[in-house]
Amino acid sequence: MGLGKIVVLGTGGTIAGTGASPTDSHYVAAQRGVADLLAGLPGALPAGFELVSEQVAQIDSKDMEVAVWQALLRRCAHWLAQPEVQGVVVTHGTDTAEETAYLLQSVLAPVKPVVLTCAMRPATAVSADGPQNLLDALAVACHPDASGVVLVCAGQIHGAFDVQKLHSWQLDAFSSGEAGPVGRVRQGQLDLWRNWPVAPCRFDPVAIEKIATMPAWPRVEIVLSHGAACGATVDALVASDVAARSGAAPVRGLVVAGTGGGTVHQALEAALRRAQAAGVRVLRSSRCALGSASARPEDAFAAAPGLTPVKARLALMLDLLAD
Ligand code: SIN
Repeated sequence: MGLGKIVVLGTGGTIAGTGASPTDSHYVAAQRGVADLLAGLPGALPAGFELVSEQVAQIDSKDMEVAVWQALLRRCAHWLAQPEVQGVVVTHGTDTAEETAYLLQSVLAPVKPVVLTCAMRPATAVSADGPQNLLDALAVACHPDASGVVLVCAGQIHGAFDVQKLHSWQLDAFSSGEAGPVGRVRQGQLDLWRNWPVAPCRFDPVAIEKIATMPAWPRVEIVLSHGAACGATVDALVASDVAARSGAAPVRGLVVAGTGGGTVHQALEAALRRAQAAGVRVLRSSRCALGSASARPEDAFAAAPGLTPVKARLALMLDLLAD
């Protein structure tokens, strides 16, 4: 009997990018299909596993849209529910991979592994990192104990809640901050240092289907607290006539990327209080790369401990969806 199926879902990114020549540093992301990427890795899976691939999207992940996240949620949920599937690998651009990882972990809370992988150099580069990252991701997905959503890059396995892109061009662009990576992959073998990510199973299959098919998700915007801030941007975001003129949905939530432990400039805080009084949910995060917003009883706005602004935004969207 076989050991199970590994399903590889392609979404684009630099891992699927191509340039004019191996030495050309200019390239276009999301050009090669996932089947093509896998064709370059014959014998990538240990004996007994079957490989299946599917192209879910073909985008530069800076242009991530709710519709792509929904398609990915649907395909992951579909494949993970098949008894013969051991795990899912997702090829993804690095730019928003941490958002997708957080979303998949929060919504699906999968017991089976969902392994995102990516590359900092295009597929045509003289020393492309994508093939090794994909090989490592397949090794993680095949591991009998692997569970939850992780991101594999430059030999490291990062948990969905901790992972963050910290460098704009280094091959090991991702960090799990002070939590540290779950482990590493070396020549197909895993060294594990921490537990696999787990999340409370918050959504049942019916709720997941609803999230993955509804025409729109609640609109949540991020604002930054900085020196000499003012409240005009928040006031404009909340003004219903501004949203109506631009054809955008009304803002339902605001995440403020605060200074230090999530503190907010007094002018911006005044505007956020006005927004909150008008029914907009406000969540505080920290703009610091490490650490996070702390919760204090006297705070006007709830904190999103442990979450970066982009992840806090998704957390608030999901809270609004669950309301
Ligand atoms: C992308 O995020 O799709 C492009 C950049 C990258 O993958 O590094």
